[in-house]
Amino acid sequence: MANVIVIGAQWGDEGKGKITDLLSRSADVVVRYQGGVNAGHTIVVKGQTFKLHLIPSGILYPNTDCIIGCGTVIDPQILIAELDQLKKLNISTDHLLISETAHVTMPYHRLIDQASEERRGSHKIGTTGRGIGPTYADKSERIGIRVLDLMDPDGLREQLEWTINYKNVILEKLYNLPPLDPEEVIEQYLGYAERLRPHVVDTSLKISDAIVRRRNILFEGAQGTLLDLDHGTYPYVTSSNPVAGGACVGTGVGPTMIDRVIGVSKAYTTRVGEGPFPTELHGELGELLCDRGAEFGTTTGRKRRCGWFDAVIGRYAVRINGMDCMALTKLDVLDELESIQVCVAYDIDGDRSEYFPTSSRKFARCRPIYKSLPGWQVSTTECRTLEELPQQALDYLKFLAELMEVPIAIVSLGASRDQTIIVEDPIHGPKRALLHPDGTPATLLSA
Ligand code: IMP
Repeated sequence: MANVIVIGAQWGDEGKGKITDLLSRSADVVVRYQGGVNAGHTIVVKGQTFKLHLIPSGILYPNTDCIIGCGTVIDPQILIAELDQLKKLNISTDHLLISETAHVTMPYHRLIDQASEERRGSHKIGTTGRGIGPTYADKSERIGIRVLDLMDPDGLREQLEWTINYKNVILEKLYNLPPLDPEEVIEQYLGYAERLRPHVVDTSLKISDAIVRRRNILFEGAQGTLLDLDHGTYPYVTSSNPVAGGACVGTGVGPTMIDRVIGVSKAYTTRVGEGPFPTELHGELGELLCDRGAEFGTTTGRKRRCGWFDAVIGRYAVRINGMDCMALTKLDVLDELESIQVCVAYDIDGDRSEYFPTSSRKFARCRPIYKSLPGWQVSTTECRTLEELPQQALDYLKFLAELMEVPIAIVSLGASRDQTIIVEDPIHGPKRALLHPDGTPATLLSA
């Protein structure tokens, strides 16, 4: 039995989908714990490609329970569209469970997200425009609508009549937008409620029951560490906690129940939306990474900003998440390069620093200090063991592992499941914290 958290170690889009899919095979339960339809992963079923935003990819395994936990925010319209898509492909969704205490994204959240971004002008965050921030803001303001409210028609009507009138003042007076018709929204959401009702339960009880029965639980993080509301590049972050700690709060599971934390990182870095990005490449090299890595967002289709691997944020992610090991994805994207840079430290106003600064203004002034490594200039997409990798690629991996003080347990070399090197068992290998009681640097690749 192992309860494992998989998190993004950068700014999201690290390829968590492929790693969670690999690990889902041995999981009995897969749980989403934060975020909403701002996330997205592409799955291919029976030759057909489609995108899921809320439903965990574990849904493809009929014996795996899929749970959308209380720390997520749910857009019922999109969730129902995903259920419909899966039904069309004859994929059962009976094993999908939705937390009754997750918050619900309403039409006014989407409108306010988009209008406030426009109003921010040059200070915009570059959100996905899906209403995520305003839904979490209402949760904190204690005027949110929860899934259990949807399940109570009289209570919902009373609550929404008040809330929509309140939000209409904001829409009309602050953003110059037409008001919403409360009756129309209430009817629409009562309809959604009936579709979702069979899936709605107290998910924390279900997870607790699974723990007692010693089933394997995979907690699937969305976005990434640097987008965390508390630990990321605030204010250029999302409004939830993608870090490993968020898995406990976002599901109702105590920290003592977690066995492993696996971080996922690309072999380079990408970011969507606004905010500082020290290793960003603006010229031809950035374009090359973008083209070779097909770096376009699943949710908004936006082109991702691309840059070199940043080991300062890598080390930070290892610490903030208590990471046991790392999965490094898209190594093959670097195959053509003659030389590869890795950011080992920052120059901040003339001083060298190996630490990620807490202030975004300071982060914007960080200049990367690079170490240059030779490229390998041969294809790695067919490699299935470390021994098959060119020496320069192996050296690159060892260098990153050493810098971040974390073992690299999985290396991914392409989108398909078999384009993967399992260096060591990410779930049953030794825990990182136990490897070095004397505080010496952690293991490298266990090659
Ligand atoms: P929001 O989550 O829509 O509020 O967007 C806040 C920031 O997080 C923006 O920079 C988005 O581009 C970024 N973001 C949100 N979800 C994802 C994701 O799944 N991958 C990468 N970036 C994301």
